[in-house]
Amino acid sequence: MRQGCPYGSHRVLEPVGSLPQAAWKVDHTRPIYDNEMLIDVTTLNVDAASFRQFKETAEANVGAGKEKLEAEVGRLLMEVVNTRGKLQNPVTGSGGMLLGQVAELGEKVQGRDGLKVGDRLATLVSLTLTPLAIDEIKAVRLDADQVDITGHAIIFASGVVAPLTGDVGERLALAVLDVAGAPAQTARLVQPGDTVFIVGGGGKSGMMCTAMAREAAGVTGNVISMGHSDASCQRLAELDAADIILQGDATNALETMRQLEAATGGEKADVTINCVNIPDTEMTSILCTKPGGTIYFFSMATSFTRAALGAEGVGSGATMIVGNGYAPGHARVALNMLKTHAKLAEILTRMYL
Ligand SMILES: NC(=O)c1ccc[n+]([C@@H]2O[C@H](COP(=O)([O-])OP(=O)(O)OC[C@H]3O[C@@H](n4cnc5c(N)ncnc54)[C@H](OP(=O)(O)O)[C@@H]3O)[C@@H](O)[C@H]2O)c1
Repeated sequence: MRQGCPYGSHRVLEPVGSLPQAAWKVDHTRPIYDNEMLIDVTTLNVDAASFRQFKETAEANVGAGKEKLEAEVGRLLMEVVNTRGKLQNPVTGSGGMLLGQVAELGEKVQGRDGLKVGDRLATLVSLTLTPLAIDEIKAVRLDADQVDITGHAIIFASGVVAPLTGDVGERLALAVLDVAGAPAQTARLVQPGDTVFIVGGGGKSGMMCTAMAREAAGVTGNVISMGHSDASCQRLAELDAADIILQGDATNALETMRQLEAATGGEKADVTINCVNIPDTEMTSILCTKPGGTIYFFSMATSFTRAALGAEGVGSGATMIVGNGYAPGHARVALNMLKTHAKLAEILTRMYL
């Protein structure tokens, strides 16, 4: 069996010498190397910012009909995978996760995580570094950012995976695991008594962060969650975890700051968590956070330049944290939330099953 690098550099085609995440193109072909796991893929959970971009491009190409849109999103996705050997959206740079079953284990990864051929799993490493080949697109679920396919993926020795035990529906598990880093980081960042502001609070990660912030801030804390559309605000009302629900456009920084201040009697947030799937919301997060507070940019549409220069421009010394998708124990935290937060589980089940 061929010997591979633990971080997958042996799969990089372009540019030579880079690691798979930074690579433009990776080799997704079989056979596998000694430190790899081959997965028969059944579902892709496409990152929300990426899926939105695919949908917008598809709409521009073919118009608004559901079937035409589904077909076009599938075609665009296939084109990226065929070109790059992985699902990394060239515009947003983001990927997603996958669901599948173990097809083969290399010599060096026999028995890892207790897995054997045929076991079902979700990957916790990004599709942006996962060699992937799609044979067929079987279904595109426009409302869930998920795509059913037949194909294969390759996971390196260093890639984290979550075996699926069957106690949570697979599509729901995949959706929740995709954003598992967000509630786990919220639990670390929010202290009792904090004022917490969640931007994009009515989305998947936003609702999880709102529920987690409620728990971590305690009865003396103040959790303010902001939705955009009527639908996401209604989800937040049903979730019943935020003290205050705001509705607005997070690309309008001054207006959002005024809304927050009006709702809190002039107070800004100790911790702001940005969970939107659109660009240009950095200044909202900065202006709504105390100068000595903390901003967690979970959104993949965040621009480092806009955040850094924007904070400098308004004299904010807030600590800004890059939304690392990994946090120790994040998968357990996320899946456990489905057991401990009945309303969250109910809403997400409706959205993703
Ligand atoms: N850091 C990481 O490792 C990591 C991992 C996975 C995902 N992500 C990123 O996390 C973000 C959230 O993912 P998700 O799956 O939770 O997405 P999601 O379920 O699609 O939620 C995104 C939310 O953003 C809201 N939004 C859109 N436009 C807005 C606006 N103008 N003002 C205020 N809110 C607006 C949407 O509200 P409406 O529906 O009402 O418009 C929606 O509720 C995405 O950017 C995704 O790429 C990061």
